[in-house]
Amino acid sequence: MTNAAFWNKAAPKYAKDAIGDMPAYEETLDRMREILQPHHRVLELGCGTGSTALELADSVDRYIATDVASKMVEIAQEKLTEQSPQNLSFAVQDAGVMTSGSNDVVLALNLLHLLPDLENTLAEIYKALPSGGLLISKTGLLKDGLWLLPLVIPLMRAIGKAPFVRSLSEKSLIVLLENAGFEVTEKLVQSGIVPRVFIVAQKP
Ligand SMILES: C[S@@+](CC[C@H](N)C(=O)[O-])C[C@H]1O[C@@H](n2cnc3c(N)ncnc32)[C@H](O)[C@@H]1O
Repeated sequence: MTNAAFWNKAAPKYAKDAIGDMPAYEETLDRMREILQPHHRVLELGCGTGSTALELADSVDRYIATDVASKMVEIAQEKLTEQSPQNLSFAVQDAGVMTSGSNDVVLALNLLHLLPDLENTLAEIYKALPSGGLLISKTGLLKDGLWLLPLVIPLMRAIGKAPFVRSLSEKSLIVLLENAGFEVTEKLVQSGIVPRVFIVAQKP
């Protein structure tokens, strides 16, 4: 099963599920609201059903939220009402193909560990950002979590019950970001069975 096929199938349930760790979600949402500026043009990759985009779009000039799974984007679009921020739009897009205009900030929330070709995607994001541009990410750290999970997930994937998940540690993710040319300016680790790291990385 391709990544897009997995996430298309998962979309209706994903849309209904409550956020797993609400205090952690709100912590990073608040931090992003502090970082984002009214002049920023934002591109979100892997936006899922658009909940975070709807929370953040009011803080910036223009917000394009994208996802590889058309079903996720469809559900996100259905959430738009007349009261929704007018500067927000949704589109189907693979994170590895940076086609959505000029951006000051790229958001990749709960996404980077799901990308088989993460090195290439980071290189594309770096190329597409201006000097001073930001990549803000939150990433699952399979390698820093319960030891059993890196063994179990490939088995679940073989029967279509899990997506591709790369076994990243905090250290290996930071090396990948730095190898792509970014400077890590902020990081916050949130604990859990699979810990997550919130990272702000800047193109010098
Ligand atoms: C765990 S969900 C996270 C959704 C949202 N960012 C959030 O934090 O709730 C991962 C999302 O990444 C999307 N995704 C997976 N691979 C992708 C890719 N190559 N390009 C763009 N989106 C991708 C999936 O369709 C899914 O919506």
